Amino acid sequence: MRGTLAVFIFLLFLLATADLGRAQAKGDAKAGKTKYDQLCAGCHGTKGKGDGPAAAALNPKPRDHTDCKGMAKESDDSLFKVIKEGGQGAGRSPLMPPWKASLKDPDVQNLVAYIRSFCKK
Ligand code: HEC
Repeated sequence: MRGTLAVFIFLLFLLATADLGRAQAKGDAKAGKTKYDQLCAGCHGTKGKGDGPAAAALNPKPRDHTDCKGMAKESDDSLFKVIKEGGQGAGRSPLMPPWKASLKDPDVQNLVAYIRSFCKK
């Protein structure tokens, strides 16, 4: 009987930690919005369409984050990497700045979650 209980507790533990992992990976879109409006909207536009005031001078322009089809081709990992390492670090335009010096990983995850929220189906 004791063995069964131990297995049961172990399974509960696994479930609990798996859940934590998911919550972290998802990020908090609401918290992401605050940072996005401060740091990113100038180029990416407040609605994520890639039409911020500074975007006119950019070539290539930031992608339209409301384009569900185009965004589906980007994994969360690749978005995370572009934000952290910048365009240059991810093999894209160096005009996308790296943010690893000013943003922590959870901030970047929140930003990924917020960027994902621009695609409304
Ligand atoms: C100075 C302008 C500028 C700022 C500020 C900026 N970006 Fe970008 N960003 C770009 C450009 C230009 C690209 C396109 C790079 C490419 O396609 O080669 C880009 C690309 C990206 C991409 C990859 C997908 C895409 O749109 O092409 C993500 C994700 C992204 N930026 C997120 C952010 C986040 C989050 C912030 C704020 C923390 C931010 N950017 C701030 C200019 C900017």
